[in-house]
Amino acid sequence: MKLNIALLAGDGIGPEVIDQAVKVSDAVAKKFNHEINWTPALTGAAAIDAVGEPYPEETHQVCTNADAVLFGAIGHPRFDNDPSAKVRPEQGLLKMRQKLGLFANVRPTFTFPSLIDKSPLKRERIEGTDLIILRELTGGVYFGERGRKDNGDTAFDTMTYQRFEIERLAKKGFEMAMKRGKKLCCVDKANVLEASRLWRETVQAMEKEYPEVDVTYEFVDAVAMRLIQWPKGYDVIITANLFGDILTDEASVISGSMGLMPSSSLGNNVSLYEPIHGSYPQAAGKDIANPLATILSAAMLFEDFGLKEEADAIRSVVNKSLAEGVVTEDLSEGEKSYKTSEVGDWLAANI
Ligand code: IPM
Ligand code: MN
Repeated sequence: MKLNIALLAGDGIGPEVIDQAVKVSDAVAKKFNHEINWTPALTGAAAIDAVGEPYPEETHQVCTNADAVLFGAIGHPRFDNDPSAKVRPEQGLLKMRQKLGLFANVRPTFTFPSLIDKSPLKRERIEGTDLIILRELTGGVYFGERGRKDNGDTAFDTMTYQRFEIERLAKKGFEMAMKRGKKLCCVDKANVLEASRLWRETVQAMEKEYPEVDVTYEFVDAVAMRLIQWPKGYDVIITANLFGDILTDEASVISGSMGLMPSSSLGNNVSLYEPIHGSYPQAAGKDIANPLATILSAAMLFEDFGLKEEADAIRSVVNKSLAEGVVTEDLSEGEKSYKTSEVGDWLAANI
């Protein structure tokens, strides 16, 4: 297969982890006889510095012309402590999600056999966890009306959802559940929020189209608790943008580290693959960041193109590296640790 992939390294540790994902993907392509053409493009603070805006039109063109997008991370501390900054790197990420129509963010949570005892959660609670949080990504409070009034002393952000936005996400959720454990949980705050009541109403109306799927409705505060108490109770969770943002960081504790969790963002056209972690600026340029989340995101990319064996080759070599202790310092627990680039080299060589 011939794949054209847009490569958006972004900020902080983005370029370092992206390099490793490219190495490993190229090794997979070589082994299975595929051809990958990578086209780099600017995003985030790097793009602000170069052209004054975090998701330039040129980058958008590269993305729309590609078969898929592999993305590193976005964000720079220089903007975090400056509330008056007119352009922020994160706006680039949000604009990209919106302009590419990436309404469904797939964030799987699973455990790695060799890391289970490193989790702060007990083995019997997490072993065998296999759930997907399907986060709505182009609506809700992230994109609702916002502003200031009363001379700036009052600020507001609004959570707005339209029925079609909920329907298209829920459809993906039902379809995923059909291929997995046939359980779907709609997570909302319908006891308080009108937008959440529209979520429930919409999902309830769709239930009859999927009679085999067992659908439940839970409040997000309760799920925040149950998700780490008994994650094995969940199969597919569908939820609004902000709730999904929060729950997926929480869920990463089940796997052992934010540095491990991949994601895909799907729309009607091109899809994007990215680690769920941020740009980790303190580690930028030090060759210490964990590249596995990005590498596992590349595995999701291969799988979505029907290349299951290729995806499994990546996952199995990742498990092997974890079992053999070829890991970056976040996972080495005082034992010998490897550099980001060394982990990438080792994985590529072992594909
Ligand atoms: C994520 C991130 C982003 C989000 C930030 C960087 C805007 O936290 O992808 O989860 O909130 O969506
Ligand atoms: Mn987040």
